[in-house]
Amino acid sequence: MGEELKLLFSKKEIAQTVARLAREISADYANKRLVLVGVLKGAFVFLADLVRQLTIPVEIDFVRIASYGSEKESSGEIKVTKEVEISLKGRDVLIVEDIVDTGLSLRFLVDHIYARSPSSLKVCALLDKKPRREVEVQVDYIGFEIEEGFIVGYGLDFDERYRYLPEISVVS
Ligand code: IMP
Ligand code: MG
Repeated sequence: MGEELKLLFSKKEIAQTVARLAREISADYANKRLVLVGVLKGAFVFLADLVRQLTIPVEIDFVRIASYGSEKESSGEIKVTKEVEISLKGRDVLIVEDIVDTGLSLRFLVDHIYARSPSSLKVCALLDKKPRREVEVQVDYIGFEIEEGFIVGYGLDFDERYRYLPEISVVS
């Protein structure tokens, strides 16, 4: 307890960004049958808002991965704790992530989903901390690019707290 939160993106800025991403995705996947794979738990709020702004029909599933390490750092030792249940073979798949930091989680997930033979695979992340990248991984749709700092709210947690907050803040 006792951290201070500093507002980074307001509800209005988030809504505008989610609407922009939804327009891009809807245009790119017009006439496709897209499967969105949300990464639990952090992406649950973003995914819920995103799908309601899309103008194309989609199917929705979730995957959950756990990485071992301290609360603020992932160690790179990753495992799937909840599998995707929809068959992804031959499908157009879009991974929906809350935030890409070192890239280790996303690198793992992309490999994991590629192994299921989708016909295409792209990534949408609400937040991208590009300067922190340790492994190369392509993010096709990016909501906000940020420098660093630990982000909470709008699905993102610090030790399971603050996920419910409607805006995005930095923990100081
Ligand atoms: P990466 O493997 O280092 O890219 O970390 C990705 C995962 O770590 C994200 O999906 C988040 O669950 C978590 N994470 C990384 N940075 C933050 C942050 O600033 N706030 C909350 N969670 C974060
Ligand atoms: Mg997390």
